[in-house]
Amino acid sequence: MLTEDQVVVAYRALLGREPENQEIVANWLRHAPGFESLCRGLLSSEEFLQKFLAERFAGIMSRLEPGPPISVEWQVEPGILEQMLERIKETWSRLGETDPFWSVLSAERFRGENFAENAQIYWNSGRSDVEFLNRWLARNHAGPFGKAHSCIEYGCGTGRVTRWLAEQFSHVTALDVSAPHIGLARDHVLRAGLSNARFIVVESLAPPPAVEPVDVVFCRIVLQHNPPPVIALLVEQFFAWLKPGGVALLQVPTYSARYTFDARQYLAEPLPPGFEMHLLPQQHIFALAEKQHCRLLEVEPDDCLGWHDWISNTFLFQKTG
Ligand SMILES: C[S@@+](CC[C@H](N)C(=O)[O-])C[C@H]1O[C@@H](n2cnc3c(N)ncnc32)[C@H](O)[C@@H]1O
Repeated sequence: MLTEDQVVVAYRALLGREPENQEIVANWLRHAPGFESLCRGLLSSEEFLQKFLAERFAGIMSRLEPGPPISVEWQVEPGILEQMLERIKETWSRLGETDPFWSVLSAERFRGENFAENAQIYWNSGRSDVEFLNRWLARNHAGPFGKAHSCIEYGCGTGRVTRWLAEQFSHVTALDVSAPHIGLARDHVLRAGLSNARFIVVESLAPPPAVEPVDVVFCRIVLQHNPPPVIALLVEQFFAWLKPGGVALLQVPTYSARYTFDARQYLAEPLPPGFEMHLLPQQHIFALAEKQHCRLLEVEPDDCLGWHDWISNTFLFQKTG
């Protein structure tokens, strides 16, 4: 049997207020058979829908629809690009020295002092990235890619995902701008008993000569930390690294109404204490794909950033020629 207290609790929890008067409470007590039916009634009320769902949808819509044009400088001279890479290298090498696991997955449990007891969770989490890749490949009828195929992982960090990619592919080339991260990645993959991954510290934006075309390029939660001109250059490089029929799975933030980028101003600013966040508008990604003979198989918004006013997308492209 429903009680008066339950009516008050349900109003507070679901509508964020007290029942308007005693008569309303009495009405619920008379007509609702129990607590569940009271909650159902409140959840389907116009007030609940207006108050909570409208707010939630407004958040989603405001990311997508009323967005104005944004000013994003995405093409600069090669010398400027290298200055940008130097900043990225400085930031990530510092993070790799001080808090490498937290720099990859920014949760308190992966801070240095908490890592030992959470290490297993951290290392196992990379497996779900590879499962994610395989689901995207399967539903787009691309592949399967396995032991007869090669993979590049760009921005491999501590090797969290590399270890699982190495289990799937014949060989993996893992690149990262931070030598401390690469050191941890190499150790981790060797500890797992795998010897088919090689590691390259990115020293410049010119493609390392040792990297040859591959079947799969994989890059998640990396490009967002690079200014738009660097994202553009890397995305084009990834496409160029694909063999015909090869695929690239990339995650890139592509829009925020509050983002602008000006190269000169960016280089004049001091480095932030943590890491930077940037984006590259979708139209440029599509243009680069076309230039490198890649076609889009699928694009979906993702939650890699967790910021409501930024849009991040995951793309799957395939090389046609
Ligand atoms: C957030 S961590 C993600 C690591 C890895 N992708 C993972 O999911 O475990 C970002 C990594 O990208 C690397 N990175 C960022 N910008 C890069 C660039 N321009 N070239 C190479 N590595 C880069 C950083 O050094 C860092 O290891």
